[in-house]
Amino acid sequence: MFLYSLAAAMGLNGPGTTLLFVLLSVLFIKWFLKHKQPWKGRLPPGPSALPILGNLFQVDRRAPNKSLMKLGEQYGPVFTIWLGSCPAVVLCGHEAVAEALIERGHDFSGRYVLPVFRKLANGLGIASSNGERWKQLRRFTLSTLKNFGMGKKSVEQRNLEEAQFLVTAIRNKKDTSLSPNFLLRCASSNIICSLVFGDRFDYEDKRFLTLTEMISENMRVLSGPWIQLYNNFPTILDFLPGPHKKLFRNSADLQNFMNQMIQSHKESLQKDVPRDFIDCFLIKMEEEQHKHDSEFIHMNLLWTIMDLFFAGTETTSTTLQWAIQILAKYPQVQEKIHSEIDEVVGSCRRPTVEDRANMPYTDAVIHEVQRYIDLVPMSLPHTVTRDVEFRGYLIPKGTCVVPLLSSVLKGTSQWETPEEFNPNHFLDENGHFKKSESFVAFSAGKRICPGESLARMELFLFLTTLLQSFVFKPVIDHKEIDISPAISGLAVVPNDYEFYFISR
Ligand code: HEM
Repeated sequence: MFLYSLAAAMGLNGPGTTLLFVLLSVLFIKWFLKHKQPWKGRLPPGPSALPILGNLFQVDRRAPNKSLMKLGEQYGPVFTIWLGSCPAVVLCGHEAVAEALIERGHDFSGRYVLPVFRKLANGLGIASSNGERWKQLRRFTLSTLKNFGMGKKSVEQRNLEEAQFLVTAIRNKKDTSLSPNFLLRCASSNIICSLVFGDRFDYEDKRFLTLTEMISENMRVLSGPWIQLYNNFPTILDFLPGPHKKLFRNSADLQNFMNQMIQSHKESLQKDVPRDFIDCFLIKMEEEQHKHDSEFIHMNLLWTIMDLFFAGTETTSTTLQWAIQILAKYPQVQEKIHSEIDEVVGSCRRPTVEDRANMPYTDAVIHEVQRYIDLVPMSLPHTVTRDVEFRGYLIPKGTCVVPLLSSVLKGTSQWETPEEFNPNHFLDENGHFKKSESFVAFSAGKRICPGESLARMELFLFLTTLLQSFVFKPVIDHKEIDISPAISGLAVVPNDYEFYFISR
């Protein structure tokens, strides 16, 4: 009866009901076999799970990190939840996360590939790969990006130019109010474009706009509740319509775009003068063309640049979007940054990375924005690279491990007012910048974000250049700005507001 009602609700007919029955039976058998595994008894404790559905009803799909924080209070710093029929060990709080990701870095350095990413990247590229493939691609990517100036003067110069394009684009709007999201996304994406494609795009280039729009849409879909359902029941959802279909279509279009870029690089490649990341990868592919197990193959190039675009565009631009919103809500914080800019930089030259050391308040605000917004609250899921004994429990190789970054960034023992935006978290009593080991916005250990230095440079230069030129004033009363998340899942997305960018 239940099956018939469910089938009717989904608009399925007779054969559809049979298909649903078969799928549910397969899932039940999988669940049953998994729960019979001998190691189950040694996983950390956690809330009891329903057959097939796991802990679906204990985790709020609109704010999963909050639910996990609450479960952590109940079950302790290491507990297990069930994603459908798969166990996931959650690490909660500074000590457990640091012990796993840093002290036992190698053991916890695996990537657990969620069903949605399995369908998208199929273990290719950096973010979704493991073992030798991951080591080689990550090492190559980091050293190539460094050679092209990541964290150095040449990329700083590129950032400064792009910040100027951003200021001009905002000025061209001629004092009308605007939502800056689109322009921020173009500017952040252009930094990755320069490193990967060797060039930037105009903010009105149609192909570029489609590219950045699709990346943004995918981030929203990936952070929404539907994808969590997909990750629990991929086999069923693959048969159903929904936002996941849009995600896969966008991904196919993005791959087409990247393939065109790779092809045009192949046609104009000069091996002695590599222009960018793609050229370097193509050269490496040629060097290793006779090695039968080489990781430097077309599909890994494609997915490495897909990873760099996705991880490098939305993260930085969403953080900037949050920063503008928070500074518009707290004009007194904005005024203090304006004063620091006036004192240290003045108005005759642009801010540079060297200025950061003399701008502790601005530095503290940027760190606090990142802490407060908690952009990637559950990190990307990890796995253990072998059977691991951890705090008296046994975590079998391949089990999903969730380092709950939220629990470190908002931990009650580390921060004075964890749930409030408070730049003093990063300032000592003399107003000097104060580092914190619990600042894990970029995660920690062997999988730590490889774009950290680039992102930090971008955040500082874009924000200070914008604040040197403008006052951010919301269209509505600043007190009414709601700085709680609009969407919370893989990433935390802010509400959308319009602002006046008033020239200073
Ligand atoms: C504010 C900006 C950013 C934040 C908050 C951020 C945060 C993160 C986090 C939390 C992870 C997961 C680490 C883990 O698995 O434990 C990650 C991974 C990654 N990030 Fe970032 N990221 C940012 C910017 C960037 C940029 C600009 C790039 C590109 C250059 C980038 C490239 C990557 C890649 C490729 C991975 C996968 C690493 C791996 O699996 O080994 N990220 N990032």
